[in-house]
Amino acid sequence: MEPVEIPEALIELLRKSEYVAVLTGAGISAESGIPTFREAQTGLWSKFQPEELATPEAFSRNPRLVWEWYTWRRELIAKAEPNPGHYALVEMEKKVPYFTLITQNVDGLHRRAGSGVRFPILELHGNIQRNKCFTENRPVETWEENGEIPPRCPNCGGLIRPDVVWFGEALPEETLSSAYEASRRCEIFFVIGTSGLVHPASSLPYTAAGCGAVIVEINPAATPVSKLARFTLEGHAGIILPALVDEAWMNIDSE
Ligand code: OAD
Repeated sequence: MEPVEIPEALIELLRKSEYVAVLTGAGISAESGIPTFREAQTGLWSKFQPEELATPEAFSRNPRLVWEWYTWRRELIAKAEPNPGHYALVEMEKKVPYFTLITQNVDGLHRRAGSGVRFPILELHGNIQRNKCFTENRPVETWEENGEIPPRCPNCGGLIRPDVVWFGEALPEETLSSAYEASRRCEIFFVIGTSGLVHPASSLPYTAAGCGAVIVEINPAATPVSKLARFTLEGHAGIILPALVDEAWMNIDSE
C-alpha cells in the first residue's frame, strides 16, 4: 500500500475550519470500479466519442444507441459499491460545522455511502438513475414497458432520456449557484479526482481561491488545478481521504 503522509498544517487547518467545500470527479469512484472519462487506457472517452453519445444531437440522431450506452453504465454503477473515499467524506460532513459536497459524478455513490444528511449534495451533472422527457424536459419516473427503446413519456409520447447534463447543455441553475456560493464562503476547498477540464465545474476552485480559500487537491496526477493548490496530496482518494479524516478527528475522538 502507498504510504500516506498528511501535512500536519492541513490537519490543524481542517480541525479549526468552520466551512469546508469539496468538489469530486470521476476519480473518487475509480476505486469502485467505475471508469473515469479521460484517462488514457481506461477512460470512457478513450473508447467512445462524446459527440456520438453525450450530446442532445447524438440522442436525436440515434436515441437507441445513446439509451443503450446509458443502460450499460447504469448496470455497471448498480453493481458498484461506494469505496473508503466516499465513506471518509460522510465522516467529514459529520465533523465540520458547515460542509458542501459538490460532485460532477452522476453515479449517486456519495448518496449511497451516506452523504447528504446534514447538507444537500450538489449534483452538477445530474444523476444517471433519474430520467426526464426529452421533449418537455420534465422528470419521468414510470412508463409503460412495451419493448420500445428508449421508452416514451407517458404524458406527451416524447422520448425518455437520462437526467444527466450533456455537452452543450446548461447545468441545473440553482445547483450551480449554490456551488458558487459554497466556493465563495468556504475556508478549505478540496478538489478530488477531477481533471479540472470541464467548465463550469472547473472554475469553482478558482472562485474559491479568489475568495481566500485554501485549495487542497487529491489526485494521483497533476492537473491545471495543481498550481492553485496549497496542498497537493498525490495518490488515491480511497487511501488518502480515510487517512486524512482519521488524523483530523478520529484521533481526537479516541483521546
Ligand atoms: P476525468 O476522467 O476527466 O478525470 C478523472 C481524474 O481522476 C483524473 O485527473 C485522474 O488522475 C483522477 N483519478 C483517477 N483515479 C483516482 C483515484 N483513485 N483517486 C483520485 N483521483 C483519481 O473525470 P472528471 O474530471 O470527473 O461530464 O470529468 C469531468 C466531466 O467530464 C464528467 O462529469 C463528465 C465528463 O465528460 C459530463 O458527462 C457532463
